[in-house]
Amino acid sequence: MDKYIDNAVEQFRTLITEQLARQNKMEKDNFVKDFKNADKIIIGTCGGDGIGPIITNGAQRVLEYLLDDEIKSGRVEMRVIEGLTIENRLACGKAIPDDVLEQIKACDVILKGPTTTPKGGSMESANVAMRRELDLYANVRPVSVPQYGIDWIFYRENTEGEYVLGSRGVEIPQKLAMDFKVTTNAGTRRIARAAFEYAKNNGKTSVAIVTKANIMKKTDGKFSELCHEVAKDYPGIEAEDWYIDIMTANLINENNRSRFQVFVLPNLYGDIITDEAAQIQGGVGTAGSANIGDRYAMFEAIHGSAPRMIERGDGKYANPSSMLKASEMLLRHIAMGDRADKLAKAMKICTETEKKLVITGRNTGATCDEFAEYVMETLSAL
Ligand code: IPM
Ligand code: MG
Repeated sequence: MDKYIDNAVEQFRTLITEQLARQNKMEKDNFVKDFKNADKIIIGTCGGDGIGPIITNGAQRVLEYLLDDEIKSGRVEMRVIEGLTIENRLACGKAIPDDVLEQIKACDVILKGPTTTPKGGSMESANVAMRRELDLYANVRPVSVPQYGIDWIFYRENTEGEYVLGSRGVEIPQKLAMDFKVTTNAGTRRIARAAFEYAKNNGKTSVAIVTKANIMKKTDGKFSELCHEVAKDYPGIEAEDWYIDIMTANLINENNRSRFQVFVLPNLYGDIITDEAAQIQGGVGTAGSANIGDRYAMFEAIHGSAPRMIERGDGKYANPSSMLKASEMLLRHIAMGDRADKLAKAMKICTETEKKLVITGRNTGATCDEFAEYVMETLSAL
């Protein structure tokens, strides 16, 4: 038993040293790309697995249509990055093969299809690896349901918390297991700042800080405290503390939920509650997700690769809406808000008002390609 304890203590020392180095590095990193004045913007697309390549391609065609002028002038370059597939990742034994990561890092922003994460084994999720490698600390997930008065945006911390040491817990066989959750000052301040900046720039009046600080006293306690510290720089924006359990209830409380505007929360709570929120909007297939860092950003669907659809032979009927939402966020991020607004308008027409084509995920509805064409036709009439 002593041997296990000694090993665990030794491992703990390594983990603390590494995490301290990460926190210190974060305090120094501050390169932010200015897209408004950039001479060149490189957009990479990674199809991923299952329905990923199909819906990514659909969204890419729409992006190319919207950015036609910039692509022709050379200001925007679209690059298709191959190799982020489960087969290739397993063959290389890496969540992101080195050559793929190199190509990704040569881009400014990435549009990424869902990637399969094998259960068990030691293969890390490609999502988690990409968020870490590119330091994409803000996972931004908007959810809007106008008929319920819902207009939410979630700022989920995306690089630490329960995830950063997720595969490096300790175990004493047949006795116990421990995982670690890490909250750093720099990591919390930057996500808090992102949430409050969004609130300030978008006329929002309140930010909900969602934790379980009554139980996770050190990590969530720090998270809440630092969010309040950052809030002091934003007079006029109220910072409200909420616990994650009651917040999950509030999201389905029809009398209360429309009061919430911006949420800021640690990684795992953010993971869970954004699926709940997306379901209220109409399902995870309708939600897009932005992973934003200072240097890079990646935009993706929040759902998985739907292997069952592929097995059924229904891949071509996959719904690209989530990737189109992600594309809208991508356009906003690269300072092309006018194009983002156009895409949002077209999506509203295609999925809410006109609905000339409907996607059902089966041969009873339109294909992904047909839907992408419908969106482009709609765009051309705007
Ligand atoms: C998400 C997903 C990922 C996460 C998985 C695929 C690792 O659920 O983006 O919400 O847990 O963050
Ligand atoms: Mg999730």
